[in-house]
Formats: sequence, C-alpha cells, structure tokens
Amino acid sequence: MSKPFYLTTPIYYVNDRPHIGHTYTTVLADVIARFHRMLGEEVYFLTGTDEHGQKVEKAAAARGITPKALADEVVANYTDLWQRMGMTHFRFIRTTDADHVAQVQRLFKRLLDKGDIYKATYKGLYSVSDEAYVTETQAKELQAQGLAHQLVELEEETYFFKLSAYQDRLLKYFEEHPDFVQPEFRFNEVKRFVEGGLQDLSISRTSISWGIPVPGDEKHVVYVWFDALLNYLTGCPGGAWPPDLQLVGKDILRFHAVYWPAFLMAAGMFQPKTILAHGWWLMGEDKMSKSKGNVVRPDTLLRFGNDALRFFFIRDMQVGHDRGFSLEGFMDRLNADLANGLGNLTSRTLSMIQRYRDGHIPAMPAFRDGATRAKEDLGRAICVQFPESARLNNFNGALDLLWDYLRGLDGYIVEKQPWNLAKDPAKAEELDAVLHLLWQALRVTAVLIAPVMPAMAQDLWSQVGMGGEVSAQRIDQVAWDAPVPERIGTIQPLFQRIDKEKEMSEIEGANAPAADAKPVLDVPELRETIDYDTFAKTDLRVGQVLEAERVPKSDKLIKMRVDLGFEQRTIVGGIGKAYAPEDLVGRRVVVVANLAPRKLMGIESHGMLLAASDNLGLPYLVAVPDDARPGFLVK
Ligand code: MSP
Repeated sequence: MSKPFYLTTPIYYVNDRPHIGHTYTTVLADVIARFHRMLGEEVYFLTGTDEHGQKVEKAAAARGITPKALADEVVANYTDLWQRMGMTHFRFIRTTDADHVAQVQRLFKRLLDKGDIYKATYKGLYSVSDEAYVTETQAKELQAQGLAHQLVELEEETYFFKLSAYQDRLLKYFEEHPDFVQPEFRFNEVKRFVEGGLQDLSISRTSISWGIPVPGDEKHVVYVWFDALLNYLTGCPGGAWPPDLQLVGKDILRFHAVYWPAFLMAAGMFQPKTILAHGWWLMGEDKMSKSKGNVVRPDTLLRFGNDALRFFFIRDMQVGHDRGFSLEGFMDRLNADLANGLGNLTSRTLSMIQRYRDGHIPAMPAFRDGATRAKEDLGRAICVQFPESARLNNFNGALDLLWDYLRGLDGYIVEKQPWNLAKDPAKAEELDAVLHLLWQALRVTAVLIAPVMPAMAQDLWSQVGMGGEVSAQRIDQVAWDAPVPERIGTIQPLFQRIDKEKEMSEIEGANAPAADAKPVLDVPELRETIDYDTFAKTDLRVGQVLEAERVPKSDKLIKMRVDLGFEQRTIVGGIGKAYAPEDLVGRRVVVVANLAPRKLMGIESHGMLLAASDNLGLPYLVAVPDDARPGFLVK
C-alpha cells in the first residue's frame, strides 16, 4: 500500500484569536486534504497551536493566570472554529501535549549527544520584542527605523544548534530537489539566504520559564522554534513520514526551509517533499494586525456560509502571492460566481428539465450540433485539466478554468434558446441535447468543487438527481459520459444573492464601536528599581514643535525642529504612524534633553520625545498644558 498523504499547517500562536490569515492557511490545507482523499489516498492532515514563549508568559502574568490557562482559553477559539468549519484534520496538536514535550526533549538529547547541539556563551544584542538575537546588520536596520530602544546587550549561556555545519548539505539538497520549496521565486530567496552564510542557532533561553525544559539542565528552556517545528514529528502517525506537503506563510518560510531540514538532517531523517509558501491577505497595502485595528475575523465572513468563505479564499488567492482583502470584493465575488454564475445556471437548467421533460433527464441523442459538441469536448477536457492543476496545488487556476466554462454555458443557453426549441416538437432532439449537456456539466461541477465547497457540492449532486456522497467519487476519474439517473432531485437555490448595501451597513454597524477591540494590555515587565539620583540624571524639558516633516522613505520617522526655550534642536521621532507632521506643529511635548545625539537615517537627532504606548498600539505623545513654557524642567 502506498504511504498516506501527510499534510501540515503551521501551528498558530496563542497570543491572538484566529483571523482570516490563519483561517486561510487551514482552509487551503483542508481543501488539499479533501482533494487527495478524492484521489483515493489516505490523508493525514495535522494542525494545532504553538503555546510556549515569552509573549504568552507575559500576557498570562498580566491577567494573573497561568500560561497554560491562557493557552487553554485561546485554543478553544481555534478548535471551536475548525469544528464549525468542518475541518478534517486528524489531530489538533498542542506544543503543551505530553507526547510533544517528550519528543522535543528526546531529540534535543540525541543531538546534544551527537555534538550537533553544544553549550556556549552568547554575547551581543537581543531584541526583546522579537525574542531573538540580533546581528549587527539587523541592529542597523532597527536603528534606521527608530526601533533601537528594543535592543538590549546580553551575555548569556545558551545551547547552540550547529546550523553552520549544514550550509553545504542544504544547498546540495536544494539543488537535487527542485520541488522542495514552492513557488520557485520563494525557493530562490531561501537559496540566497543560505548562500549568504549560516550562523549557529541559539535554541535555548534562561530568561524564560514558560517552555520545555532542556533535559538535564533545567534552568534552560528550549527556544520556541526548535520546540514548534518538531510538532510535525510528534504529530506524524506511524508510516506517514515524511510530510508530503507543508503549508506555511511567506513570513515563516525560512524556519521551515532552512532550520527544519537542518534539524532533520542532524536527526538522520527524511525531508518533507514540498514546502508551499503562500502569501498574505493584506488590508489595502498593510499587513493585518491588532495594533492597526484592521483585523478581519472569520465570523464576519462566515455569516455568508462556510462554503462561500472557502470558495472565496481559494478562488481569489493565487497561492504564493499577496492579495488585498475587501469586504466589498468578497461579496462581489460571491454574487458573481455563486449566486449569478453557478447558482443561476443550476436553477435555469433544472427548471427547464422540470418544465420541458417533467423532471426526467434526457439521454444524449445520437445527433448533436457543432456548438453542443464543442461544449462537450471542453467539458471532457476540464475533467482532466481540473485535477491536474489541483495536483500542483493550483486550485485557483482549476477554479478559473471551471468558471470560464460555466460562463460559456450561459452564452450557449442564449445561443440555443431552449425556450423556443421547446415550442417546436420537431426540435425535441435538439432540446434533449441541450438539456443533457447542461445536466452533465452540473454533475461534473459537483464532483470538481467538492474539495472546495463540500456542502454546496453535495447539494448540487442531490439536486441533479445523483445518489450517495459526492465526496466518495474519484475526482481524477469524473467521466463525462456517465449513465444518467432517471430524474432530477428537488430544486432549491444553491446560493442566496447577497444584498451588498444591507450587509455592509449591518457589518459596519456591528463593528462600529470596535466590537473586536477586547482591550489587551501588552506591556513589558516593570523595570528594575532605581534610586532618585539615578532618575534625576535624566533632564526632561518642555519643548514646542516649530516645524515637522516626514523623513523620506520612512513611514515612521518625523524630523522636527523643537524649541526648548534656551535653544532649538533637531529631533527625529518614530511617531509618523500616529501623527501627521501638520498636527505636530505648535504642539507642546516633553523632551529627554540630555540624551546623547544619534543618527537616524542619516539625520542627527538631538533628544527624544516622550510618548506612551504598549507593545501593540501606536504611541501617544506625552502632553503638558499650554501654559507650561518651552524650557520648563519636568521633574
Ligand atoms: N507559531 C508560528 C508558526 C510555527 S510553525 C512550526 C507562527 N504562528 S502565527 O500564528 O503567527 O502564524 C501562523 C500562520 O498564519 C503563518 O503561516 C502566517 O503566515 C499565517 N498568517 C498570519 N497572517 C496572515 C495573513 N494576513 N494572511 C495569510 N496568512 C497569514 O508563525
């Protein structure tokens, strides 16, 4: 027997509820899983959650609960959503599951014994917000973005994985396996990254306690990515290794295409066959994020039906590329393709069979005209091309083909005018041909769309009069000339047309006072206690902004001329996403006046403005009353 098809999604962090980005990855995986089942394969589809790390630890502390309790709470949002959406994963893995903890410790120990993991001291910069060591180049980039305050000097003992030893082996592997990463342009990025040189990877932390303890050295916990990637091993049922397809977003491709294969090489295990990196759903040009307040939650879209959401995701996104999301575009797509397109064609066809043939499906007469034959040939070709595209994970292309065909059938109906054929008994055969062709097209469509829209496909299957489960059909063997059942089933609308304006106002109304904005405070821990003298060294002054302009090529930085009473200064501040330059002019601000000058994107900034924010939101400038004059000391 052939090996089961093993398919994975990334495991999701538990610092947020699912949004449409996470939902997209899981839908894509579910569509692929259902497709492979319809090829007659046994499929294992794994998804789950990534629960360890500093962010979860802190968020839990802020709420006064344990990290595990926080994770349990968030995980329920995922498991509940996947259940409502009918996802067909065989296991929902959590990195806190006992078998996973044991797996991570076992492999850590094995690689340690083998010499692929070693203990040493790291000395250098660390980014608190990314929970990662920072190279000099990265530090410069952060400085240029005005984010250098997130960096701290660190000297700590850590376990390293000998990633550098795998550089050549990885490149050779890439060379020999041109399908290892898809799409190709992403594979090229990965290759360039590896060619640029690999440094050993720190895979333990002593500053975090919420994690899997390093076996035998428990003041260390295993770093989140070493822990997280191994979920694919823990969750793999016997006989299914290696993964056939691993879905990831473009942002986490490097972890999957470089670190992960290197870990597997070290462990002496087979590599996944393909890692498929998809792009992002964007809001306008922006990434979706809680701090920007532009996150779309799946429940907003699920009001139009689960299948509709699945269809939209697969039809609109070309795997690998980014795509802008808009609610309007979403509704337009469903109206055009499901209400008007397939829905209309179905109700037209079936009601004609009902009216003209009393619900009996006519056989194809021996004679048919050229137009009908051309549509038959095209239909037969699609039965082959659709599964071929889908095998290459090009579902968007497959749906394109099918919907072009369906649109063509609308034209065919207009051309044949069955309502006129029905009036003339001499044209009975010609009408049979039209009705039979349209019926076959709908039957075939039901099979082909089943992985994407399982419920709608079953509905269509029953409406055309076929018995049993459409998902039990072999999708690669949809014969066009299948025998015809006697009668059609009960006709009912496949998809209700969406009243766009009404829905828009309802959705906007519901979201108006930010229904989504369950306030979460995400702030760093309280810093160490200092005495008054230490504080008094900081010279804080009232200033007034005289001029302000954006720093070219930066959406964050604003260059200001600030009056400090005793002198004027140039200050560059990272507040450009929260304030427009024109709103700053005339404003009173608090300035750290004795901070050593430093260069930001080539401009010398002398001082810093005080602003309040948490890790998620935009900064608010600290305000002083208008009668406080420039130069006043703040103490
Ligand atoms: N926990 C890690 C993955 C570990 S895998 C061993 C992680 N989690 S995540 O929750 O932040 O992201 C999970 C997936 O969601 C990623 O593949 C990411 O690309 C995807 N998406 C997050 N936002 C997205 C969009 N706006 N659009 C599409 N997918 C995006 O990273």
